[in-house]
Amino acid sequence: MVGSSRATPDTLPAWQTLKQHAQALEHVHLKNLFGTDPGRWTHFTRQVAGLTLDLSKQRWDDDTLEHLLALAEEAGVPGAIDALLSGKRVNVSENRPALHTALRLPPGSSLEVEGEDVAAAVHDSLTQMERLVARLHAGQWRGATGKPIRHVVNLGVGGSDLGPLMVTHALADYQPEGIHPLEVHFASTMDGSQLADYLTRFNPETTIFVLSSKSFTTIDTLSNANTARDWLIGRLSKHGELPSASPVSAELIIRQHFIGVSASPEKMSEWGITPDHQLMFWEWVGGRYSLWGTIGLPIALVVGMENFRELLAGAHAMDRHFREAPMAENLPVLLGLAGIWNVNFLDIRAHSILPYDGRLEYFAAYLEQLEMESNGKSVTSQGQAVNYSTCPVLWGQLGPNAQHAFYQLLHQGTQPVVCDFIAPLKRYDDVADPDTRRHLKAQHRLALANCFAQSRVLMLGDDALEDDGPRPEHKRYRGNQPSTTVLLDQLTPSTLGALIALYEHKVFVQAVIWDINPFDQWGVELGKQIATDTQKIIDHQGDLTRMDASSRGLIEAFWAAEQE
Ligand code: F6P
Repeated sequence: MVGSSRATPDTLPAWQTLKQHAQALEHVHLKNLFGTDPGRWTHFTRQVAGLTLDLSKQRWDDDTLEHLLALAEEAGVPGAIDALLSGKRVNVSENRPALHTALRLPPGSSLEVEGEDVAAAVHDSLTQMERLVARLHAGQWRGATGKPIRHVVNLGVGGSDLGPLMVTHALADYQPEGIHPLEVHFASTMDGSQLADYLTRFNPETTIFVLSSKSFTTIDTLSNANTARDWLIGRLSKHGELPSASPVSAELIIRQHFIGVSASPEKMSEWGITPDHQLMFWEWVGGRYSLWGTIGLPIALVVGMENFRELLAGAHAMDRHFREAPMAENLPVLLGLAGIWNVNFLDIRAHSILPYDGRLEYFAAYLEQLEMESNGKSVTSQGQAVNYSTCPVLWGQLGPNAQHAFYQLLHQGTQPVVCDFIAPLKRYDDVADPDTRRHLKAQHRLALANCFAQSRVLMLGDDALEDDGPRPEHKRYRGNQPSTTVLLDQLTPSTLGALIALYEHKVFVQAVIWDINPFDQWGVELGKQIATDTQKIIDHQGDLTRMDASSRGLIEAFWAAEQE
């Protein structure tokens, strides 16, 4: 994947061995794998950076892992890890490095890439972000009419939304004390629904917007930004409806109510963001890998810079492990290999993400982009069509809620599905009131009991139950559904950083083996282009007759509704 031509994975010797090995294991039920090897927990569980990764409920054995590790060697995973972390141009279709790991290098470190010390540039950008955060936390950032800011609305989509949204939700308990009260919100959808709600509730005098867009061309974000700008100007300028506020100029409003975060300072300036309020990042940070830098501004606003740096430190600990640990001990490598085994050899193409902690509510949505936008590809780095499966369909939601929604399919449907269960070991120790603490800790135990019970039943099926005599077919459970469990010692900024980095690197390992580029997203580009053409037609500026019958019918239905 770093540009050198290599054999496709399905022609590698270890791939062939794995195919035969899979045939031998095909009819072995997971419960029998446990039956014949009582040491599976020890064999298949690893710990690092406050995380425990239990891969013992994967439908594999020691030989499988040995062959998979051979496949990783043959596919060049160790060299690719080095290429990624040292800033080689691993994103071949866009001819640039993918240096999100540089965003979490510790202060004082350096990383020279193509003659530039990227670590120094990263630390400068974090220092600039820290200054903005400090002003907002001190209540010193004033809106155009002189009032301190109360609401910060992040306008961004995809990687400029999902990462910050997920982390701010997960770490909401980590708000620093004694700061000026600030609420952080997110609006991503181009239809304006989230924004419309905020505009009816928030005072424009005390609301600012963060325009987060790597490209600063994304119509979803710019359409929200334009609506927000006109709302502010309409309400605060001399033609506004706000009797209490003195009239202020549009220029001052844009200056005081917008921060821009982008890799394009020119476009931010063109839009009107004042240079002091522009935060930079670089083309070599992929959107879905960008929460670690200035796109993380909403995170830093919620948890403070100290905790933000802890998040980075946790991710960096995982980066070091990824670089230094032998493959057989390397958590991202092992997690990636489990996925390869499931997709390519057991033909399991559905993957569910199931956190048992409400704070991780947006983790599945975040991973959906990370995994499927990265590895939802069917062309190798050398431009050949693949003839093997790549990224599975990945979806999820909070496990306890999903138990009452789609677990039926996991237990008794016809699809094989692999699940990732994610939970913290400790929770609620810091709840001040002893009675509430006792109750909440009992609820945490209940959640863990359910988490462990579900992975066990998915593995064992009927055998998880006491034998209570014959049962009709509709009350039978076949089991044999593989799963991974990731336990966090506690959910902290540092363990969350490590968890996210674990999945980022897992995605990379799989991309290397599949020989695809995980850092571009050309599939999404086509949709954007076609939407622009379609918009022209909807706006009566294009040729409707060029469209297919269905699209024509839909547009005509919309035109008819507009006439009513
Ligand atoms: O549409 C896909 C995408 O390009 C994602 O990769 C990206 O995270 C998102 O759009 C937002 O892009 P930007 O940050 O440039 O607005």
